[in-house]
Amino acid sequence: MSELRVRVHARTVLAAGIAGFELRALPGQSLPPFSAGAHIDVWPVEGLVRQYSLCNDPAESHRYQIAVLRAADSRGGSIAMHEQVQEGDLLRISPPRNLFALQPAPHTLLIAGGIGITPLMAMAHRLEHEAADFELHYCGRQLAGMACVDALKAASFADRVHFHVDDSAGLPSFQAEALLSRQPVGTHLYVCGPSGFMDWVLDTARRLGWPAGQLHREYFASSAPAGPQATDESFEVRLARNGLSCRVAAGQRVIDVLAAHGVDIPVSCEAGVCGTCLTTVLEGEPDHRDSFLTEEERQTGRQFTPCCSRALTPVLVLDL
Ligand code: FES
Repeated sequence: MSELRVRVHARTVLAAGIAGFELRALPGQSLPPFSAGAHIDVWPVEGLVRQYSLCNDPAESHRYQIAVLRAADSRGGSIAMHEQVQEGDLLRISPPRNLFALQPAPHTLLIAGGIGITPLMAMAHRLEHEAADFELHYCGRQLAGMACVDALKAASFADRVHFHVDDSAGLPSFQAEALLSRQPVGTHLYVCGPSGFMDWVLDTARRLGWPAGQLHREYFASSAPAGPQATDESFEVRLARNGLSCRVAAGQRVIDVLAAHGVDIPVSCEAGVCGTCLTTVLEGEPDHRDSFLTEEERQTGRQFTPCCSRALTPVLVLDL
């Protein structure tokens, strides 16, 4: 995938522990357009890539805005963003990609937990422009730690925004079941936030009988646990078109083994989040370790993410 160089035009404090970065094109260049729900890869330092959702109005062509929560993630991407990326810096990014796109619906329900507000901000702008029917629910522990609150209160769609703050007397805490129960037929749900929060919201929706096709979620970090049958045993990977056959030992990644044999699969997050490496499985059963595929896709689809997933069967035959 091609890459871009952009300038950090402004850096702001959006909330406690959350920095906002406004990225602009270099002189004489322009930014590719993006759609609501899109994200970009950002390299805060060489060798480290993280994905951040674009949170500004997709109608804006002069800038990308991202919000970065300082978190002690294992690879240190957010800490590098906070500590090393300053106004005026050049930053390497990817063009926007959208794995969390809005679908046409009679009503759209947006539910954000914490920093998960970012793609839903862009969605709210888009839905407002389309005069679409929607509501946005934003949940957090403390107002001080919630990004974009002032912007949401000042937005043209402010009357559609509902804040749910756990420790704030006078503001209602979030009642997922009650909210999901009263949605019009055909409503599409978009949820973004910590994986436990999303699991809770989506499990509640499924329990209430929501169709899987109306449930959409975004992850910020790979959090998928290995399945109950998961194993780290070695297995064989066969490439149906290439003819290659090779063994993936315990502790090895499929992408690394294939790369060592000259087969490069495009990757981005290398953590099971972005879906860039999705590969079709022709035979065998994958051991899904990603947080990108939905449960339905895992059961009915034939794809897996070789950057992190493995095999439950002795052999996986891939469409490569
Ligand atoms: S590279 Fe992102 S899911 Fe595999």
